[in-house]
Amino acid sequence: MSTVLYPGSFDPFHVGHLDVVEQAAELFGSVVVAVMHNPDKPSGALSMDQRIAMVKSSVSHVKGVSVDAFPGLAVDAARAVKALCIVKGLRTSGDFEVEQQMAHTNFAVSGVRTVYVPCTPAFSFISSRYIRDIAANGGDVSSMVHPSIVKDLTSILNRRK
Ligand code: PNS
Repeated sequence: MSTVLYPGSFDPFHVGHLDVVEQAAELFGSVVVAVMHNPDKPSGALSMDQRIAMVKSSVSHVKGVSVDAFPGLAVDAARAVKALCIVKGLRTSGDFEVEQQMAHTNFAVSGVRTVYVPCTPAFSFISSRYIRDIAANGGDVSSMVHPSIVKDLTSILNRRK
């Protein structure tokens, strides 16, 4: 069994993320989900505490998974938890372009490697960005996030309340 780090901004965590956590737990045995800041997305819709609570609730049925917030670099978080590697999910070739550059950069500065897992095709269109948009406008996001967080997510983000 190895520990791996799954970093992301998870604003919010959705069923595509959960799919990656489930695959990583099956492959490696122990997964640390790292809720992190993405400098390209400065103003998150959800607070760190809200994101962590939603990730915890969404993964509670998966054995070997822990969830925490980490400041700074993903590679430092990976070293702090003694992770074998970073795990990332790939939905599309667009994801690959972005993730490949990050993976090479992370390896160049730290020696920490990245392993990709392919997203289950049925979830490949799901993105936090559109979930935020739909929830903020009173739409139904229940097919895209874990059932345990639908109510909280909708009540936090729905501007039409
Ligand atoms: O879910 P996201 O927004 O695609 O996740 C991106 C994230 C948080 C994994 C990435 O921005 C990140 O690793 N942030 C931590 C800071 C860091 O390590 N930056 C150097 C990247 S090469």
